[in-house]
Amino acid sequence: MSATHISPSPTPTPSKDEDEITYHRYDPSQESVQLDAIRSMISTDLSEPYSIYVYRYFLYQWGDLCYMARDKSELVGVVVGKLEPHRGPGGPLRGYIAMLATKEAYRGRGIATKLVQMAIEAMKAQDADEVALETETTNAAALKLYERLGFLRSKRLHRYYFNGNSAFRLILYLKSPIAGAGGCECGCPGEEGEHDHSHNHEQHVA
Ligand SMILES: CC(C)(COP(=O)(O)OP(=O)(O)OC[C@H]1O[C@@H](n2cnc3c(N)ncnc32)[C@H](O)[C@@H]1OP(=O)(O)O)[C@@H](O)C(=O)NCCC(=O)NCCS
Repeated sequence: MSATHISPSPTPTPSKDEDEITYHRYDPSQESVQLDAIRSMISTDLSEPYSIYVYRYFLYQWGDLCYMARDKSELVGVVVGKLEPHRGPGGPLRGYIAMLATKEAYRGRGIATKLVQMAIEAMKAQDADEVALETETTNAAALKLYERLGFLRSKRLHRYYFNGNSAFRLILYLKSPIAGAGGCECGCPGEEGEHDHSHNHEQHVA
């Protein structure tokens, strides 16, 4: 696995939105404070029970792809990602959004959209070809957010989650799908073998 190391460069100047929400890149030197806050927020909002090792797996290797939203010092949103070749060396460089959550009282204000955009920009800066993720088929807010950003449904994953719910795999192609190594044979922007070829070309999975 080709890991992207945490950037030694300092956290960029926090950006502010009109509500005084500030956006920050995860700072490994603040792990003792930030990791607990991230874990606590995500365990409240996501159905999957992740162990501390899962957080460390992502944050030790790809802390530069984790962004946080704060209201003063309070963590109100977070995105956690990774970036590595898909299907081994030579495959497309695939970014992955592993976790995303906004505190309930702060939802619907564009916070998660901004966090995902920041993660995608960081992946693009490292030459990512595509970005993937899974989300529950019933998660209307997440589907709306990601599809608004250009993600396409590539596959339905039956009973994917621990709670028995199914997922959609969503993919955002950052470069020409034909030029990408993992593109579908039929020339559509899907993944070979990852979707039903009876699809129409506007939406891969109904
Ligand atoms: C999904 C989640 C991260 C979105 O956070 P957020 O900060 O509210 O996101 P944004 O405000 O950027 O965008 C959410 C969009 O979904 C829409 N939305 C919210 N609830 C919705 C619903 N029930 N049905 C349809 N759309 C909905 C919002 O209106 C908004 O779209 P708009 O900007 O076009 O109006 C948040 O709901 C959350 O933390 N949920 C629990 C954890 C989770 O499901 N994470 C995603 C796992 S992939």
